[in-house]
Amino acid sequence: MDIKDIDSLELQLENELRQIKNSDDLEKFRIKYLARKGELNDFFEKLKTLEVNDKRIFGPRLNELKKNIENVFNQVKNSFSNDSCDNFFDYTIPGVKQEIGSLHPTTLTARHILKVFSSYGFEIVEENEVESEYYNFDSLNVEKDHPARDMWDTFWLDKKYVLPIGSKKDEFKSKNLLLRTHTSPVQMRYMEKNNPPFRMVAPGKVFRYEATDARHEFQLHQLEGLIVGDDISLDNFKSIITDMIREIVGQKDLKVRLRPSYFPFVSPGLEVDVECFKCHGKSKDGKCSLCSNSGWIELMGAGMVHPNLYKSAKWDKYNYQGFAFGMGIERFAMLKYQIPDIRWFNSGDLRFSKQF
Ligand code: PHE
Repeated sequence: MDIKDIDSLELQLENELRQIKNSDDLEKFRIKYLARKGELNDFFEKLKTLEVNDKRIFGPRLNELKKNIENVFNQVKNSFSNDSCDNFFDYTIPGVKQEIGSLHPTTLTARHILKVFSSYGFEIVEENEVESEYYNFDSLNVEKDHPARDMWDTFWLDKKYVLPIGSKKDEFKSKNLLLRTHTSPVQMRYMEKNNPPFRMVAPGKVFRYEATDARHEFQLHQLEGLIVGDDISLDNFKSIITDMIREIVGQKDLKVRLRPSYFPFVSPGLEVDVECFKCHGKSKDGKCSLCSNSGWIELMGAGMVHPNLYKSAKWDKYNYQGFAFGMGIERFAMLKYQIPDIRWFNSGDLRFSKQF
């Protein structure tokens, strides 16, 4: 082609560009004409051989052509990246399955239990996992050197430990900090801030400094319950807790029994057992894995609140009556879903958690 035939050159290049249907061909076009060693540059080389007058005419015209072609080139290129067949989305190709997370069995169990309690008017309360010796023990009638402290192997925190953000040292009423061994300190913190009558439940993480096995974990969850009023009785406790357990398990007519036990913050202290909700005590062939053929399942510790706790709370009178209970959330989930090993909860093994 003659350099002087610039108009038809421009037309030809533009036509060629407009017919390009994919980015491979577009790239070929770029290499053939626009690249450093492309044909358009040959024309610029030829321009140098023209006479001065021609140069003045064709020089600017060739520049204009180059600019125009580059513009069209970019238009075509953009049209590919928007909706061209190059980026064509094939709706018929089966999609890649999105994995959807699910709630952890501990969360599911806690939510289920809390729903039942809040439908009975219990307030849901939460407190720090870092506690002080005062709230975890002293205020709950477990004095220093009290042998009952052995019931809770404790993770004591280093003195250097920085308090949770926003909290003041006096809030802990003791220099000695620990990871709470039970949710019972929430009772005391609640009693300091509220006057009876009330009913509350407190779910949360607790820690025990002990070796792990299928039935023991150093980190687990508990649910604490507390009702205090003028004349709350043990009989009230038995009827309320029976209703709750039946509703949580989802079986009417389940029997519940109370056995004497000991916890320093209650008097009398009790252990609450529920009739085995798998074999209902009928496993005569000795094969019930849930209750080991005893017909009963131990569900929680409980009792009537010890009057010393009312003193710790600095209430103006101490003749209130109330009851408290504490249950393990994982333990309940293990019974409900028949999970044989408590360590699976924190294993992070998706084969376990995906089942819920
Ligand atoms: N805090 C006790 C425990 O961790 C359980 C409990 C709570 C017992 C309330 C009685 C009353 O074992």
